Amino acid sequence: MTKKTVTLTDANGKSAEFELLSGTHGPDCISISDLYKQTGYFTYDPGYGMTGSCKSSITFINGEEGILLHRGYPIDQLAEKSSYLEICYLLLNGELPSKAEFTEFSSTIKNHTMVHENIRDFINGFRYDAHPMAMLVGTVGALSSFYHDSLDINNPEHRVISAHRLIAKLPTIASYCYRHHRGLPFMYPDNDLSYVENFLQMMFAVPAQKYEQNPIAAKALEVMMILHADHEQNASTSTVRLAGSSGANPFASIAAGIASLWGPAHGGANEAVINMLDSIYNSGETIETTIARAKDKNDPFRLMGFGHRVYKNFDPRAQIIAKLCHELLDDLGGDQPMFKLALELEEATLKDEYFKERRLYPNVDFYSGIILRALDIPMNMFTVMFAMARTVGWISHWLEMNEDPEFRIGRPRQIYTGHAKRDYPS
Ligand code: SDX
Repeated sequence: MTKKTVTLTDANGKSAEFELLSGTHGPDCISISDLYKQTGYFTYDPGYGMTGSCKSSITFINGEEGILLHRGYPIDQLAEKSSYLEICYLLLNGELPSKAEFTEFSSTIKNHTMVHENIRDFINGFRYDAHPMAMLVGTVGALSSFYHDSLDINNPEHRVISAHRLIAKLPTIASYCYRHHRGLPFMYPDNDLSYVENFLQMMFAVPAQKYEQNPIAAKALEVMMILHADHEQNASTSTVRLAGSSGANPFASIAAGIASLWGPAHGGANEAVINMLDSIYNSGETIETTIARAKDKNDPFRLMGFGHRVYKNFDPRAQIIAKLCHELLDDLGGDQPMFKLALELEEATLKDEYFKERRLYPNVDFYSGIILRALDIPMNMFTVMFAMARTVGWISHWLEMNEDPEFRIGRPRQIYTGHAKRDYPS
């Protein structure tokens, strides 16, 4: 098949030809790895909004049409028909598991749900009021110190067992962060339960009595985990890839991803949305004044839970979560007034030119906090929930990168705007 190319010509009439690369879906990409060699130029793309960093077969997003596929399967079908653990298998292996494959995978993950007892001491070393994300990023980074016999990233078996360990242990560690914060005893995993039910019992069970599972809450959390499992080359996934590109071990790379996710412009937005809705609900702010602040260029405030680098249409995940809100709040009760306020805020933006012109719609974080609150998850645990669900996406990209023949250490360039060369004063 003849190569597709594009020719770039500069102001001096000098031309250079570059190969056009095509994927299964999505726009073609100009391969510019020899741009400097051919033209003497670099490219400049702050935030890499127009730059492909890798080839990947895990997730595809069409932001114009609000499409999200995991290994080709649409997110709405996966949310309706699959389970989080089945999605973990799909993201890691590229295909849905057979019944036997799922049984084996589920048993493997269950074998890794416990953590070394020293992790309990490690977490108990944090102040009682430490933010759970601070505890999570520190603890996951420290995990590598317990597995020094299987950190050879060039060994496929080491890579896979690290992936299984991370997927299995994140719920245990996340629940420990919550329990430490609340001064509650840590609960051990119960491998007779599903992945999500096990997490709920480690979070909310008390040793003094039998924990009663709530199937409605478990199902809602299952869907939330599925919706947050992966999302292509977002900031935290790109951080995991960049950290891992130096050969860093998977625990250190995932810890880097957790750190990036913590920011309010990314995974920290779910906590920021609830703070924003609370301030409208409890402090006299109105929808009108909140929207006015979001539009005011002199005010750094942004409407949390709105906008997306890729989705210039509805975030399909937000639509699924909004529907889940209706169902869950009807069944579990919970923040109906908060949900009503969120719907009013969304309604107001749909009519506002500023948001319409910039194609700013609710993203995955806008409604998720309302669900998490209805599940009695405290606000400072919201981003921990996001990190727990996204761990499988991060590690799937880390594995794909380490198996990519084109893989090389990440090293962006810059436009230097500092002082011209000058001598040290004599
Ligand atoms: C996630 O990438 C992913 O896939 C992320 C994620 C995932 O699953 O991994 O989907 C999860 O991080 C969702 C996003 C959660 N963050 C928020 O909800 C925080 C609020 N949103 C914004 O900070 C913002 O929309 C971003 C960070 C999400 C996207 O920022 P961009 O793409 O850099 O957009 P931009 O800054 O170029 O904005 C374009 C215009 C600007 O106005 P002008 O300068 O053109 O006049 O839109 C405005 C911005 O000021 N704008 C907003 C706004 N978001 C963008 N104005 C008010 N409120 C907002 N929320």
